[in-house]
Amino acid sequence: MDISQVGVVGCGLMGSGIVEACARAGYQVVVREVSDEFLQKGLARIRKSLATAVARGKAGQEQADQALARIRGTLSLADFADCDLVVEAAVENMDLKKEIFAELDGVLLAHAILASNTSSLCITAMASVTRRGDKVLGIHFFNPVPVMPLIEFVRTILTSDETMQIAHQFGASLGKTMVTAKDTPGFIVNRLLIPYVLDAVRAYDEGLATREDIDTAIKLGLNHPMGPLTLLDFVGLETCLFIADAMFEEYKDSRYAAPPLLRRMVLAGHLGRKSGKGFYNYG
Ligand code: CAA
Repeated sequence: MDISQVGVVGCGLMGSGIVEACARAGYQVVVREVSDEFLQKGLARIRKSLATAVARGKAGQEQADQALARIRGTLSLADFADCDLVVEAAVENMDLKKEIFAELDGVLLAHAILASNTSSLCITAMASVTRRGDKVLGIHFFNPVPVMPLIEFVRTILTSDETMQIAHQFGASLGKTMVTAKDTPGFIVNRLLIPYVLDAVRAYDEGLATREDIDTAIKLGLNHPMGPLTLLDFVGLETCLFIADAMFEEYKDSRYAAPPLLRRMVLAGHLGRKSGKGFYNYG
């Protein structure tokens, strides 16, 4: 099966990055948001990222213009009828995701593949509300999507070999390296990342070292691009808390138990870069 049109549900941080990556790879992309305000914000983020790509010499101006011309925004999932593959990147709420999957199952043609970009929720549960369980999988991208080279595929016990093969062709066409995980909470990356960042919060809260020293130790001692507290601010504290809670709910393992400080920072609205304050201040 050839994929020519891709649908993306949600034009937030991840959705807009996925739209950009697909449009740059030559796909026609339709993206759905819940309001015109959110849609315009997402499209502006894509224009800004493409301008950065041009400024950094990662794309020509003509390529960027062509990519933008391939993107169509909508407020209705009915406009996904011609999509060959849809990536859902809506907020991390299982009831909402099930609603989207059920609606798309009725809108899409029989051959179309339905994927979720969820970082922790159960893909099998999303597949269960469709009549195309063999065509459902997780396609998990990393932030910032145009820069990060990895895609994590999540294969359920229903996903067919053919779907995995098409997903691999799709991932390769985006220039990404791909890994495959079973449908278990956190998949590969978050299974290992979440206990690590939670431990960093505990260490900071216990006064092991300053936030700067914790980050510098990991950055320079392990050659990571960012220390764990900077990374938490980058990903969003509420996102990490949500993933930790989802993993704890399923595994009941103290490695995934969110430290009280993280929960209180989220309650206080200290979400990281997006709110202007997290472990650090962002003007
Ligand atoms: N389009 C294309 N390329 C771009 C770009 C864009 N919009 N913006 C930047 N780039 C390129 C730059 O040209 C540069 O390329 P070269 O290395 O070839 O010069 C590269 O991307 C890095 O850009 P910068 O120099 O601006 O930034 P940096 O070196 O400070 O790196 C970073 C920024 C990539 C974010 C880096 O700090 C990093 O990798 N941080 C860790 C990010 C991470 O861990 N993400 C995963 C989070 S977890 C997640 O997403 C999943 C989940 O489920 C929670």
